[in-house]
Amino acid sequence: MTVEQNTSEHAQKAEDTQPKRILTGVTTTGIPHLGNYVGAIRPAIQSAQNSLNEEDQSFFFLADYHGIIKCYDPKQIHESTKAIAATWLACGLDPEKVVFYRQSDVPEIPELAWILNCSCPKGLMNRAHAYKAAVDINNEKSDVDPDQGITMGLFGYPVLMAADILMFNATHVPVGRDQIQHIEMARDIAGTFNHKYKSLFTLPSAVVDENVALLTGLDGRKMSKSYGNTIPLFGEYNPQVDPEKQMRKAIMQIVTNSQAPEEPKNPDDSVIFEIYKAFGSTEEIADLRAQFEAGIAWGDAKQILFEKINSEIAPFRERYFELMANPKELEEILLMGAEKARRHSRKQLDKTRRAIGIKPLAKLK
Ligand code: TRP
Repeated sequence: MTVEQNTSEHAQKAEDTQPKRILTGVTTTGIPHLGNYVGAIRPAIQSAQNSLNEEDQSFFFLADYHGIIKCYDPKQIHESTKAIAATWLACGLDPEKVVFYRQSDVPEIPELAWILNCSCPKGLMNRAHAYKAAVDINNEKSDVDPDQGITMGLFGYPVLMAADILMFNATHVPVGRDQIQHIEMARDIAGTFNHKYKSLFTLPSAVVDENVALLTGLDGRKMSKSYGNTIPLFGEYNPQVDPEKQMRKAIMQIVTNSQAPEEPKNPDDSVIFEIYKAFGSTEEIADLRAQFEAGIAWGDAKQILFEKINSEIAPFRERYFELMANPKELEEILLMGAEKARRHSRKQLDKTRRAIGIKPLAKLK
């Protein structure tokens, strides 16, 4: 079940008939892993494919201007942008059907962010979780300024995100739990602008999929790049190493307990079973549960998990490595997406500028 935040009953009814505009962004700081695939990539591609209403539109973008807030390594930003674009396309995103672009190719977005900065109360940003967490860490140390190491980029992060969303009048924004506050802030920012000037911006709703599994990593903690415990989706590009073998190797590293092979095992205590649940059909899951309870060796359980994941990912591999080796094709696809995006963003920025009094002094000719 998906839960829409902030949706009143009235809005819910209207929504059945009105086309949806779905928009979401991915920060370009990492190389996609299995957790990203299950939590964001797969559901987003499915929702774009299964859209019931012909007029629904989907916008997916690479948030590289958000990337530079967290990462100061130009090479990493660049590589990540390439890998994320290749991943989404290889996994089945159809760039003809959706608008797929790079944030920095749409200069109207940072322009809108500036305009929104000028009506967004500073106090609203003071309450942002990410900023507050950074201040809290500083406050724990003595003799450290509360804002030490905090950039204006981090502080204003939610305003740029509001610009991403409001630029395209998105109605539905699929995000992880940690991003809900940012969508609420986008609503506040839109409301303030609409009230001060002119009603130009749609108030977006966050869509949080309750069923999406948050995968546990190899070591039992949440699967996250920062813990170094991920299962890479496609693995490093290295002609010497078979990507399938890389994936198998990562899966074999999942930490288990020391129960003997034939001992009955609790599936609900096992990372192997948990990840399997994100891939298997209902019957397959029930079958593996029974095998756990009857006693299965950890190595055999891992092999079953590997085969299941591999059967889903293997068909995407060739295309991924092909795109990684052909950045020209990626670049063309992204620029085509930017052109589509800018058909909207040019108009929206023009309206916004006019609303605030920035417009030509006279018509020439
Ligand atoms: N901040 C989001 C994240 O880290 C990425 C993002 C940037 C985004 N702009 C967005 C998500 C607009 C949804 C809508 O996950």
